Amino acid sequence: MKTWLMASFLLTSSMALHAVDTKSSTLSAEYKAADYSRLLGMSGFSDELLKMHFQLYQGYVKNTNLLLQALQNPASSTPLEVYTYGALKRRLGWEFDGMRLHEFYFGNLGGKTELSKDSSLYLALQNQFATFENWKKGFLDTAMMRGIGWVILCRDPQTGRLMNVWISEHDLGQLAGAEPLLVLDVWEHAYLTEYGLDRAGYIDAFFKNIDWNVVQSRFGSSTGTSSSPKSL
Ligand SMILES: [Fe+2]
Repeated sequence: MKTWLMASFLLTSSMALHAVDTKSSTLSAEYKAADYSRLLGMSGFSDELLKMHFQLYQGYVKNTNLLLQALQNPASSTPLEVYTYGALKRRLGWEFDGMRLHEFYFGNLGGKTELSKDSSLYLALQNQFATFENWKKGFLDTAMMRGIGWVILCRDPQTGRLMNVWISEHDLGQLAGAEPLLVLDVWEHAYLTEYGLDRAGYIDAFFKNIDWNVVQSRFGSSTGTSSSPKSL
């Protein structure tokens, strides 16, 4: 495609995107970083590590707000500014997912009890993976993959299928519409200062601190089994 034609295409596309953004300007309230200081003192995680991690999370909240603010402005007519607009658009998924995934992660920490074998989540995991231990093995295998990212036990609302999913960085590999139930951060900043290269040790500490009540709540106490489909 010729350069001028490409620029024209990008300009038209970005103007359309901007029209959508303008309509949603009433939803311009800034995101606020949640307070997870209740996790300080958690076994296997030093306060120093947690405070650093909270600070990183707050950066994602700040940058999500910055990007959303910047994207309220119209894309200008010069090709370079149109290109910049597109770059900011692409960056939003990374910052927003970095914010939200940390909230799921911190939110499912701080527990002290095992998942009840009578819970609907336990029964659903048992139903789909044959045993709870089989599900856990799959989750751990995913968490030990080389690279930085996230491991998510999620549910496809259309079929009820439960899956252990790998997310590269924050935004690559997300399954559209899937509901996160249990989220584990395996970026090196989540454990390196505490565990060095012993990722398995960190994951073991994570499992000892899962708040299964939160995970069960995300799953939904009324679902009964994970095979119940939901319409979108
Ligand atoms: Fe993190």
